[in-house]
Amino acid sequence: MATLSSQQIHIPKTNNEKEDREKDYEATYQKYNEALQTLPKERGWMSEHLVQYQGYWFSPKSALKGAFLVQHHFKAQPTDIFLSAYMKCGTTWLRTLMFATMNRSSYDFSSQSHPLLNTGPHACFPFLDASIYQNYPINTDLDALPSPRLFATHIPYTFLPQSVTTSSSCKIVYIWRDPKDVFISLWHFMERIKQKGVPPLPLKEAFDMFCEGVSHYGPFWDHVLEYWKASLESPEKFMFLRYEDLKKEPSIYLKKLAEFMGQPFSLEEEREGVVQEILKLCSFENLSNLEVNKTGVLRLSDELVVHNSEFFRKGKVGDWQNYFTDEMKEKIDLITEQKFNGSGLNFGVNPQNSNC
Ligand code: A3P
Repeated sequence: MATLSSQQIHIPKTNNEKEDREKDYEATYQKYNEALQTLPKERGWMSEHLVQYQGYWFSPKSALKGAFLVQHHFKAQPTDIFLSAYMKCGTTWLRTLMFATMNRSSYDFSSQSHPLLNTGPHACFPFLDASIYQNYPINTDLDALPSPRLFATHIPYTFLPQSVTTSSSCKIVYIWRDPKDVFISLWHFMERIKQKGVPPLPLKEAFDMFCEGVSHYGPFWDHVLEYWKASLESPEKFMFLRYEDLKKEPSIYLKKLAEFMGQPFSLEEEREGVVQEILKLCSFENLSNLEVNKTGVLRLSDELVVHNSEFFRKGKVGDWQNYFTDEMKEKIDLITEQKFNGSGLNFGVNPQNSNC
């Protein structure tokens, strides 16, 4: 499996196929534009507004467009593996772990030519909604990607096309995190990448919006719960991971991840320290100090270019303690307790999923 960036892959379709596809896209794009006129609006975090569609909040020009097009046009293949998460739950880290694990026979970890050392974490496999589909017209031939295709996405479970949700064989790795740390991470990120002219969003105001569910791809709790419930119905299709667990016992979870993706580590590989090598390669210290992650950029769309360095802040559990008042902690913990009540998802207790 090789690295592919969306810019590298152009559609080698016949003219008729291309025309039909373009017409289909045009029709969806029209629907998206029509929907935009009527959707509830709130103040945005990094864009002027967020709009609410089917219960979730999106930035209108990028995330909603991506979600709409994925929902209507993406066709899963049986071997696809998705990395899904609400924002700031550890996608960058998990993406590199998945890529390094899946490609461990193709690249030498000790070599300076390993793609993760040179291309930035997001180039190793694409964001389905936030990169490929939010750029309209799409110029990526997804059918040409090598199998198993790996895709990352932030879109809520209910937005995934049926070809993903009903496939008995494609897989979803979902990562979540203590919402207190998610909020702090998200607030910092949004303040740093905000579009020109969008005023700063004070922490307290952002906190209230987050608790109300008004955040990109929010409400956070609904995002987690929908994936969780789906995972209870089809446990073989899902691996549910918590950032905190991965931090605490990385080798245990990396081995489970490799097994889940159909590429378990052999005893010989374990003896040779391959698991540790991958963890070292993908560690916060290593990745955040690479030149490509200090100076490189991720071009998500014409309007949204993010410096790779923004994806590496502290990489710690519990940074919320440096920002929260007792009142804020109580409020968000109560929401979590109420929302997750009866679901089997308890923060501080391992989720009861056989894949965890
Ligand atoms: P903090 O802001 O709390 O530091 P995402 O990748 O989903 O956008 O999540 C970003 C969060 O993951 C940030 O958290 C970031 O620092 C952390 N992160 C990025 N790479 C990491 C790594 N290799 N190991 C641990 N955490 C990492």
